[in-house]
Amino acid sequence: MTNKDFEKFLDTSDEWIETRTGIKSRHIVPRDKHVAASELGAKAAGIAMKRAGIDPDQIDGIICATFTPDSFFPSTACRIQAILGCSCSFAFDISAACAGFIYALSNANALIVAGNASNILVVGSEVISKTLDWTDRSTCILFGDGAGAVLMQASEQNGRGVLSTYMASDGTLGDILMLPSWGEKRTMKMKGNEVFKHAVRMMSDASLRALEMAGINMEQIDLFIPHQANIRIIQSVADHLSIPDEKVVLNLQKYGNTSSASIPLALDEVWNMGLIKEGTKVLLTALGGGVTVGSSIIRF
Ligand code: UT7
Repeated sequence: MTNKDFEKFLDTSDEWIETRTGIKSRHIVPRDKHVAASELGAKAAGIAMKRAGIDPDQIDGIICATFTPDSFFPSTACRIQAILGCSCSFAFDISAACAGFIYALSNANALIVAGNASNILVVGSEVISKTLDWTDRSTCILFGDGAGAVLMQASEQNGRGVLSTYMASDGTLGDILMLPSWGEKRTMKMKGNEVFKHAVRMMSDASLRALEMAGINMEQIDLFIPHQANIRIIQSVADHLSIPDEKVVLNLQKYGNTSSASIPLALDEVWNMGLIKEGTKVLLTALGGGVTVGSSIIRF
């Protein structure tokens, strides 16, 4: 769905959307068809397993980050498990909105380090279009549907994997970005300006803390993969952190904000471009409703 498509039914323009957000188009599941987050997530997770050369019965766990689950329960992760036939795995969802992928990654890492699992699929999957108020021009133009996944595996090699993760939440800011479960009209509500302000401050702070925890400096980071919400937020965070443009990974122009899927989608793209090699250090950061924030440093 392009920005021009919105001009047909909203008081907006391609020019406004692109200059204020950086977004040109986004992928939307068919409106007249039920497409569940588990379907998208299982596709992404299946590709991740194939690339890693791992069979479904070698998977010990599936963690899915989503704020658009198929149902309250079973979890989307359990549904993905059923689709993929991972008969030996545990499966559960994580609710941390747009920061969900980093929270899921951190949980998977902790389970692996504790010796509870060797192979965990970490999935971010969203069908956000089903939650939008399509008459609200300040929110519906921002989001897209999508899924991404990584396979995390135990390794004896020192210095590889998740070097650090910093997570923080501020429940007092819950009202600035929310999707009610029942009662009121069930569409996303957002105070865009406030989210913008907190996003820049909290993602910059979380990134600095993750760097400190890993004992490395910004110059040692090869790629910066921020949650893809708004190009102006990303540029402000990159400026705060003095990260040069060539290290900043952007794909929001094609997909919009896909919440928990945005970071794994970007990881897939840089992997396909050959930018991920052994030793590559990546800084991830995201902020989501809650408010939740997280930053993680990974060495491949
Ligand atoms: O994953 C985290 C989730 N969310 C975010 O990260 C969103 C963070 N916030 C943002 O990205 C930005 O705040 C928005 C893109 C939502 C809005 O951009 P802005 O530059 O902060 O605009 P604004 O809210 O200050 O609004 C400026 C004007 C307003 O008109 P008036 O009151 O000045 O006449 C809005 O009504 O722009 C208007 N506006 C639009 N105009 C055309 C808002 N949305 C649109 C639109 N098309 N789609």
